[in-house]
Amino acid sequence: MPACRSKAAPSRRQHRELIPGVLNMQRVYLDYNASTPIDPAVAAAMRPFLADHYGNPSSGHWAAAAAKVALETARGQVAALLRCRSDEIVFTSGGSEANNLALKGVFFAHRERGDHIITTRIEHPAIIEPCRFLERLGARVTYLPVDGTGRIDPDDLRRAITPRTILVSIMHANNEVGTIQPIEDCARIARERGVLFHTDAAQSVGKVATEVNELGVDLLSIAGHKAYAPKGVGALFVRDGVSIGPLLHGGGHEHGRRAGTESVLLAAGLGKACELARDLSPMEGVRTLRDRFWEALQKQFGNRVCLIGHPTHRLPNTLNVSFVGRTGAEILGRLDGIAASTGSACHSGRIELSPVLNAMGVTPEVGMGAIRFSLGRGTTREDIDLVVERLTNLLITAG
Ligand SMILES: Cc1ncc(COP(=O)(O)O)c(C=O)c1O
Repeated sequence: MPACRSKAAPSRRQHRELIPGVLNMQRVYLDYNASTPIDPAVAAAMRPFLADHYGNPSSGHWAAAAAKVALETARGQVAALLRCRSDEIVFTSGGSEANNLALKGVFFAHRERGDHIITTRIEHPAIIEPCRFLERLGARVTYLPVDGTGRIDPDDLRRAITPRTILVSIMHANNEVGTIQPIEDCARIARERGVLFHTDAAQSVGKVATEVNELGVDLLSIAGHKAYAPKGVGALFVRDGVSIGPLLHGGGHEHGRRAGTESVLLAAGLGKACELARDLSPMEGVRTLRDRFWEALQKQFGNRVCLIGHPTHRLPNTLNVSFVGRTGAEILGRLDGIAASTGSACHSGRIELSPVLNAMGVTPEVGMGAIRFSLGRGTTREDIDLVVERLTNLLITAG
């Protein structure tokens, strides 16, 4: 079944152009976890703020009116996706800033109460690095382990909480392998102990449900460019009553939580993207294609391929697969025109597995062969068939 696509889905041209200079070689984009194209409806929602509405939303005169309305409409659209109040949304420059604001903001506002933060070993660097920074400021951070599928054990969290714990931050879905964490259970454990709970939902918005009260979280980060909005915009949900210290000091924008004149242009884009993301039905088509892809790979390669990540608790668009004994980077290097990512990097002539694969206990032989394919609203059956054919030609026919 082809992927369901809304009328506003990105144009085919964005995904499958002919590569200049390479005859009949088509481009296929399977790196939606890295970034998505801007949805045409999102671009349309932003256009008036490039052309006409230049007022500062904080001003008190006629030129501010349209900007202010647009900013608050966008805030309402983000809030509607997360099912929270508009004034619980703080616009940021993206997922990294939202994560930094959550971690440092809670630490700055609550350090009198405690200095202990709990996170996991498989977080994005936008969580790990702020944690390292806070350790240099005197915080103590516990990095919870994960099992072979990339999931944490809520009992490990229960055991790690101490009277000094002020924050737990556990990502909703992992960017490399797509594994979804038991956030509801973990958030409940934190709440029972009176500890704030943050989740990095940069990868899950628009792919799985991200309603803050269902999840039970106090803070939640989102990133525009993972959800068909532009790069450079995101948001942090901060539950009413939760105090955070700002990272940026200045005017009283965003209720004193993030100084700086808001980009109405980018907020309008994020708002529209969040409105579209409320409809999760396109993901059913994406999941079908993802599963078709995996079945075709198993058929062609048998036990020379293996799945990395959780078989069921996984984002519907993500397929991290290892071509065992091969090198993922080398395969991708020889698949001109196919955009995807690997889970290993070459450092000083040595292949090193990503910290995520390491934490999952993936062996070097398997991890080195890992490729992350991430599908999106624009992916078609032809894209998948073409990639399977190209992989088969490269790895079987050509040897
Ligand atoms: C899980 C996760 N968190 C945070 C980020 C950072 O988001 P941004 O690129 O908007 O700063 C990313 C981006 O790759 C991500 O995948």
